[in-house]
Amino acid sequence: MTAVAIIGGSGLTNLKNLEITRREVVRTPYGEPSGPMVYGQLGGQEVVFLPRHGPGHTIPPHEINYRANIWALKETGVKRVIAVNAVGGITPDYLIPGTLVFPDQIIDYTYGRAHTFFGSEHKKVTHVDFTSPYCEELRKLLIEAARQAKLPAVMHGAYGATQGPRFESAAEIARMERDGADIVGMTGMPETGLARELELCYASVAVVVNPAAGKTKGVISLKEIEKNLETGMARVRTLLEQVIPRIARA
Ligand code: HPA
Repeated sequence: MTAVAIIGGSGLTNLKNLEITRREVVRTPYGEPSGPMVYGQLGGQEVVFLPRHGPGHTIPPHEINYRANIWALKETGVKRVIAVNAVGGITPDYLIPGTLVFPDQIIDYTYGRAHTFFGSEHKKVTHVDFTSPYCEELRKLLIEAARQAKLPAVMHGAYGATQGPRFESAAEIARMERDGADIVGMTGMPETGLARELELCYASVAVVVNPAAGKTKGVISLKEIEKNLETGMARVRTLLEQVIPRIARA
């Protein structure tokens, strides 16, 4: 049985420590996922990996087919999904690049994205509870693994999901801070909501790669982000090796 699915974000288009065994193309009623499902061994278990932006990192956040991705992962039979998201830091505890964050809340600022499986074609009006958007059981396993591996991490926080692909203005970040957002990224929604609609146990590992707009002197540097992505994703790979055996035992 496949222990867990991993959705890779920016900086995690391939998982260096994944021993790939096979690739599988999955068709969905919503079109093409970002790429084939990549199966392999990680931390002594079988996992399935899907790079959110495509195998060549070509799909921007607002053009990702989130519905096809989540549907395809559900089709593989996995019950749990770990999503990796690069983010900017907003509030004081979240400003140091390389910090891992396990968010427990989310605010959706995206627009125009296909965000539900429960449109009128579903025939029946359906609502889902989203009080706690992330799977608490999986979040706990991630937190324990990060502690064990002594990784710099913040164990909670509110993720603000913006439309992109541009970064935010300083005023937009100030507004998000007043709203209660601790971190900002472009891919948390609708992915998190779709996972809930299909009853997947879904949690995010967010990696701070820059202080958000207005939280640093000057402009947001892509070069800095690249550098921080490398450090951050190395930590994510360590975390995954620690957490996957725990998931298999849970
Ligand atoms: N804003 C939005 N998305 C991001 C950022 C940011 O500052 N950094 C990484 N992804």
